[in-house]
Amino acid sequence: MSEHFVTGYRYAEQTLRLPDLHQALYDADTVFLPKTVVCLHGEEHTKKKRIFSSVFNRRFYKHYQNHVFPKAVKETMDPAIAAGGGDMAQFAYRVLINLTADSAGIDRRHTEKDTDRLLALLGKLGHAPTMGQLTDPSDRNRLLAELKEALDAFRDEFFEPSLAKRKAIVAQFAAGVIEKSDLPQDAITAQLLSDPTDEDLPYDERMKDAAFFILAGAFTTANVLMNQVNNVLDWFEDHPKDRQNLMEDPILMQKFIWENARLHPASPITKRRALCPMHLPDGHNANTDEFVTVDLTKTNRHTDLFGKDAEAFNPHRTPGNNLPLHGLSFGGGAHVCLGKLLAVGVRITEDNKDAEETEVGTIALVLKDLLRHGVARDPSRTAEIDESTARRHFKTLPFIFDRTLAVSSNA
Ligand code: HEM
Repeated sequence: MSEHFVTGYRYAEQTLRLPDLHQALYDADTVFLPKTVVCLHGEEHTKKKRIFSSVFNRRFYKHYQNHVFPKAVKETMDPAIAAGGGDMAQFAYRVLINLTADSAGIDRRHTEKDTDRLLALLGKLGHAPTMGQLTDPSDRNRLLAELKEALDAFRDEFFEPSLAKRKAIVAQFAAGVIEKSDLPQDAITAQLLSDPTDEDLPYDERMKDAAFFILAGAFTTANVLMNQVNNVLDWFEDHPKDRQNLMEDPILMQKFIWENARLHPASPITKRRALCPMHLPDGHNANTDEFVTVDLTKTNRHTDLFGKDAEAFNPHRTPGNNLPLHGLSFGGGAHVCLGKLLAVGVRITEDNKDAEETEVGTIALVLKDLLRHGVARDPSRTAEIDESTARRHFKTLPFIFDRTLAVSSNA
């Protein structure tokens, strides 16, 4: 079947908005993702997305940023500080799984053992989105069997107890015993309020939705965070004063984060299938069932828009046409990322930079904590990239905390 590649930035934006292109990036997975929001289309997609989007309102961000994040970050930072460092390839997943599990509505004991168990299960589920990008496709059947096993364990160990607890709370709300503001603010509760019974939403679909929510939030952000740490540590070699500048200047911090997201979109491509013959914005035609692949890495590195040095990490660039510095890393059109604010914040300006409620995003919060403790490369161990998928995952990114580099923050 023929595949059409879109690499122009404006064409990509327009292509992602076409209503007759169906999600196709995850077609290789037949077990986990087919009924999750990222694969649905049309009205079914709009309904599920609206429910999940309702979780992310101002009350959510304020509560998470000021109460949940600091605790979750501390939970992962403390053991790393005690050990004098760690491996970012592990640290990034640990810290972000804790943050996203809360917004999904998955309860767990806040111990390293529980975090690592959830991580191990989601690590197996994490092969679903990248299955279509395997460099060795013969692994597919083994991975599908692993997916089934991991889903069963996630259901029994994490989802069922979390769901039962929320069903009881929602029943209290329905009976008028508690107020709406007393309800937990998470994806499982939002879905229960909209679709309370298994007739409204099959149990299996509810469970996979919860697992996907954590995956979409934690694994993407963890991958971006690893590249972020790698890029800033390189940058500090030539600009050592920026360690301190980053702590003091939220606008500069965001430039570093959006620039890194531009260069390293969590998924290098997104893919669609034509539902009917159509004329594409870049002038090409696609027949029914043909694939249209938007290359996010290429769109984000266009020299006309991002400058001659578009391949390099340069947080001080000003993209043309007032484009966001992160480019198309959060997708576009109907499937645009719903966790962007959570990960990388709102656009920070002179007007909102000091306000307590300004959403700065999880990457900024974690990076600040790492800088506060003097994060640096481990001189005795080198970083390695995992080449098994086209996504740029680190196999290992060892780091230490060097007290002589620790910086403090006024904020
Ligand atoms: C830096 C971090 C992140 C990046 C780079 C990222 C990127 C993306 C991209 C490119 C898409 C579109 C996929 C497509 O068109 O096929 C997407 C969708 C999605 N993202 Fe994110 N994401 C990030 C963080 C998050 C977070 C923190 C959450 C939630 C807690 C989240 C939840 C979702 C969901 C639910 C979708 C599916 C939306 C839909 O299909 O309508 N993401 N993300």
